[in-house]
Amino acid sequence: MNPIGPVNALYPMPTTLVGATVNGKPNFLAVAHVGILNHGTPQYLSIGLGKVHYSNAGIQENRTFSICMPSEDLMVETDYCGIMTGKKTDKAALFDIFYGELDTAPMIRQCKINMELRLHDVLDFSTHDIFIGELVQTYADDSVMTDNTIDVSKLRPLLFDMASKKYWSLGPSIGNCWNAGKSLKGK
Ligand SMILES: Cc1cc2nc3c(=O)[nH]c(=O)nc-3n(C[C@H](O)[C@H](O)[C@H](O)COP(=O)(O)O)c2cc1C
Repeated sequence: MNPIGPVNALYPMPTTLVGATVNGKPNFLAVAHVGILNHGTPQYLSIGLGKVHYSNAGIQENRTFSICMPSEDLMVETDYCGIMTGKKTDKAALFDIFYGELDTAPMIRQCKINMELRLHDVLDFSTHDIFIGELVQTYADDSVMTDNTIDVSKLRPLLFDMASKKYWSLGPSIGNCWNAGKSLKGK
């Protein structure tokens, strides 16, 4: 094993589209640096946004945001939202937008899963704002559900890898969690 420096090796990550109301209008940006802070109720999720981005001020002002899950078929639109800034471009015009319980967290009908969050806290890092949101509601299209559960094989999340700077596709399931390890028990 060779040291390669403090390289973040947690990729691939799902690519998301984060929605916010900025200057009174919906805006979306691509965000792969999403964190799951707990597994409980309420559920807290984090997003790390560079301070230069247009979206940050809107999240601070309205204290809401959304995390929308584009499938592979939205790769082009998602990438566009990661290239263009809302300072100059109306990216929301690409999508059919809807709102749920929070009237300033825009969500996307073309994304089969959408989550709306209320801002809980902001961590002020030197280059990034880390927005921590409390998950308020999740919206799912029937087409990605199996037995009332989100089915990733139907959702086909768009995976992002920083090392290759490529989008990747989800492969097949290879085993059951909390189960595969049982074969080593008692050895
Ligand atoms: C695949 C992908 C993932 C990205 N992930 C992040 C991220 O996690 N955090 C971030 O601050 N910017 C990320 N970006 C860059 C922003 O989406 C991009 O700078 C965007 O133009 C900012 O939009 P805004 O100025 O309208 O807020 C990503 C871009 C791409 C293409």
